[in-house]
Amino acid sequence: MRNITFENITDTVIKSTENTSDRRLQEILTVLITKLHEFSKEVNLSHSEWEAAMGFLLRTGDISDEARNEFVLLSDLFGLSSLVDVISSHRAPEASERSVLGPFYRPGAAFLEIGGDLIKENEGQHVVFQGVVRNTSGEPLEGAMIDCWQNATNGFYENMDPTQPDMNLRCRMLTNSNGQYRFSTIKPTPYQVPDDGTGGEYMRATDRNCWRPAHLHVRVSAPGYEELVTEIFNEADAYIDSDATFGVRESLTISYDRPATGAEKEINAHLKEPFTMADFDFRLKSL
Ligand code: BEZ
Ligand code: FE
Repeated sequence: MRNITFENITDTVIKSTENTSDRRLQEILTVLITKLHEFSKEVNLSHSEWEAAMGFLLRTGDISDEARNEFVLLSDLFGLSSLVDVISSHRAPEASERSVLGPFYRPGAAFLEIGGDLIKENEGQHVVFQGVVRNTSGEPLEGAMIDCWQNATNGFYENMDPTQPDMNLRCRMLTNSNGQYRFSTIKPTPYQVPDDGTGGEYMRATDRNCWRPAHLHVRVSAPGYEELVTEIFNEADAYIDSDATFGVRESLTISYDRPATGAEKEINAHLKEPFTMADFDFRLKSL
C-alpha cells in the first residue's frame, strides 16, 4: 500500500474491501469502485471539479430532512429510480410495469367502498377510474388493495398545500370478488418537481424542464404477491414525452377521456355529467 500509483490504485482500493462479510455488499462495492475510478480517469477529473461535486452533495444533504429527501429527487432526475424500476420490471415482464414512487405518498388513506368518490370540493374535470387487479395468469384477485394518491388541479399534492383538506385526493380500496375497483376523482394535472435545491441546480445546468406529465399514483398489494408501485399517465398530456423523472411507460399510458357507456352513466348516476372514464387493469406477480 506504500506506493500508490495511477495504475494500481483501483485494485488496491478494491482489495481493501476484501473483509466485507456481506457478499452482496462486496460485489456492489467492487463494481462501484471500479466504475467510479474508471469514470474519474476517463473525464480526467480535476481538483476543482471534485470540490464542486463534494459541495453539491453537501448542499443536497443540507436541504434534506424528514419531509424532503433531495437525494431521492436527484436519483429521479438522473433516471436512477426509473432504472431500478425498469430492472425490476425486466425480471417480471408479465406483471404491470413499475414507476417512481415520488415523495408525496402518505400511508393511512381512508378506505373507500367500490364506486366511492374523491371529488368532494375539488375543482377539475371529473373522471371515473376503474379496472381489475389480476395475477400474471389473468385471474382476478379478490381483496387486493389499491392505495392511490394524486395532485389537485392547482398542481399540488395535499401535503404540499395548506389550502387542501388533510388527505385530499387519497384513498385505499379493496377489490371485489371479480377483482374490480372503481372510484370517481378529478383528472390529475401536470406539475413541476421542486427546483429550489440541487435537483433544480442540475435541471438548470442541463437546460431541462422540471415538468412531470399528469398521473395517478398507485400502490397495489395482495397477500402472496409482490407489491406494485406505479403511476398511470394521461396520454393526452403535453409532457408525456418529456417527464423530468423518466417515469412514463407505454403500458402505463391511457386515455382519461373515454366516453361513458349508457350502463356506466347509470352505475355512476351520483356523478354530475360531464365525466369521462379511465380504465386500467393491474397484474401482480406472485412472491
Ligand atoms: C411525483 O410523481 O410525485 C414525483 C416523482 C418524482 C419526483 C418528484 C415528484
Ligand atoms: Fe406524482
